[in-house]
Amino acid sequence: MICNNLSVNRVGHLCLGGQDTVALAKEYGTPLYLYDADRIRERCRTYRRAMKSAFGESAEALYASKAAAFRAIYRIMAEEGMGVDVVSSGEIYTALSAGFPLEKAYFHSNNKTDADIAYAIGQGIGYFVVDNREELDAIESIAAEAGIRQKVLLRLTPGIDPHTYEAVATGRVDSKFGSAIETGQADEMTAYALGLSHVELVGFHCHVGSQVFDSDVFLRAAAIMLSFVAEMKQKYGFLTKELDLGGGFGVRYLSSDPEPDIAANIAEVGRAVREQCSALGIEQPAIRMEPGRSIVADAGMTLYTVGTVKRIPGYKNYVSVDGGMTDNPRYALYRSPYTVLLANRPHDSGVPFRCSVVGRCCESGDILQENVELPADTARGDLLAVLTTGAYNYSMSSNYNRIPRPPVVMLSKGTHTLAVRRETYEDICRNDL
Ligand code: LLP
Repeated sequence: MICNNLSVNRVGHLCLGGQDTVALAKEYGTPLYLYDADRIRERCRTYRRAMKSAFGESAEALYASKAAAFRAIYRIMAEEGMGVDVVSSGEIYTALSAGFPLEKAYFHSNNKTDADIAYAIGQGIGYFVVDNREELDAIESIAAEAGIRQKVLLRLTPGIDPHTYEAVATGRVDSKFGSAIETGQADEMTAYALGLSHVELVGFHCHVGSQVFDSDVFLRAAAIMLSFVAEMKQKYGFLTKELDLGGGFGVRYLSSDPEPDIAANIAEVGRAVREQCSALGIEQPAIRMEPGRSIVADAGMTLYTVGTVKRIPGYKNYVSVDGGMTDNPRYALYRSPYTVLLANRPHDSGVPFRCSVVGRCCESGDILQENVELPADTARGDLLAVLTTGAYNYSMSSNYNRIPRPPVVMLSKGTHTLAVRRETYEDICRNDL
C-alpha cells in the first residue's frame, strides 16, 4: 500500500489507521472524508524534529493550512506546537475560533484587501508575508491607526522553475506572487519597508512550488535567498531574523511515486544553509518551512458508494460514484493521479475492468480518475476508496449542482470523531434570500 496507515483486515476490508472503512461508511454515510489524525501528528513531529536538528532550535515548521482548513486541524496544529500559514480572513477566523494562537500565524496572499489587513491586525496576527508595495503601504497605515508595529516578511521570487505542474509553480520571475530578486524589485521593497515606521521587517520568504520531490529545488532557492540576505546586510545593514523557505515537498499518490525522505532532505538543506551562511559571513536566520500537502495528504481518504456502472462496448466503461469534482476537483483541474480501489474488497483479483471513475455532476469533466482497474463485477453498492485525498480536497470542495459537502471524520487510536458534519440542503440554501 502507498502509506503504512493502510491495511486490510481479517474480513478483507480496507482499513485506515487500523479502522474498518466499511464500518465507518456505514456509520457516517458516503461520500465521506476520513483523516488519520495520528498520521497528521506524526508528520508534524517529523518536520519539527528535522527542522530543529537541521537548522537549530530557532527553526519552526508552519502548516500551510490551505491544504485542509477546519477547526480540528488547527487544534492539532496548536497541540503539536506548529505555526500556521493562512491565506485569507476566513482561514484566520477558523484558526482563531479553534483557539489557535494567532501570534504564530503568517498571513500570505498576493492580494490582501484593506479589510483583510485590518481584520488580521485587529486579531493580533503574528506576521504578514507581504507580496507587494501597495500592501506595505496599507499595512503601514492600518498599523499606525492601531498604534502598533507590525512584523512582516517580504515574499520574494527567487526565479526558480521547480518542474512541477503549471498551476503550482510559483517561484518564477513571472509569477503573480511576490517581488522578483532578478528585476531589482525585491531590493526596492526591502529599502522601502526599512523606511516605514509601523512595519518591522523581520525577513524574507519564498515558495517555489508544490509536489516537489527534488531537494535540489530547495537548495537552489536557499542559496539565492541567502545571497540576497547577505546583499541586504551589506547594502542597508539589515540583519535578516527569519528566512521562510516555503512548502512543497511531494507526496505519493501512486505506488510508482517516490517516497521522499523528509528528514534527510531537510538535513541536506540544513547543511547547505550553514555552509553558505559562514561563506557569506552572515548569521543564520531562524528558518521557517511551510508544508501543507505533505502534512495531511496521506492521512486522508475519501469513500464513495458506487452507483451506475456503464459499459460502452468497444469504447469505454464508467463507474459512477455519489461524489465527484465537488469534493475532489483535482483531476478536473490538474489531471492529478490517485489510487482507487474497492474498500469492501481491495484484494479482489478477478478479471480486471478498465474504467473511468466519474462523479455525479452534470458535467463531462467530472472525473475522479481515468484508466482505473477495478474488479469486473464492480456494481452498485460497492464501496470505493480514493486514497491520499487529505490535501486540497475538502479545502477546494464546492456546492456545484447544489451537492452538499461530505462530512469529515477524524480517526485516532482506534476511535473516530466527527470533525465537520455533513452539509444539509438547508445549509446549501442558508444565504439564499
Ligand atoms: N507556502 C505557500 C506560500 C504556498 O503557496 C503553498 C501552496 C504552500 C506553502 C504549501 O505547499 P505544499 O506543501 O502543500 O505543496 N491546489 C493545488 C496546490 C496549490 C498550492 C498552493 N500553495 C493542488 O491541489 O495541488
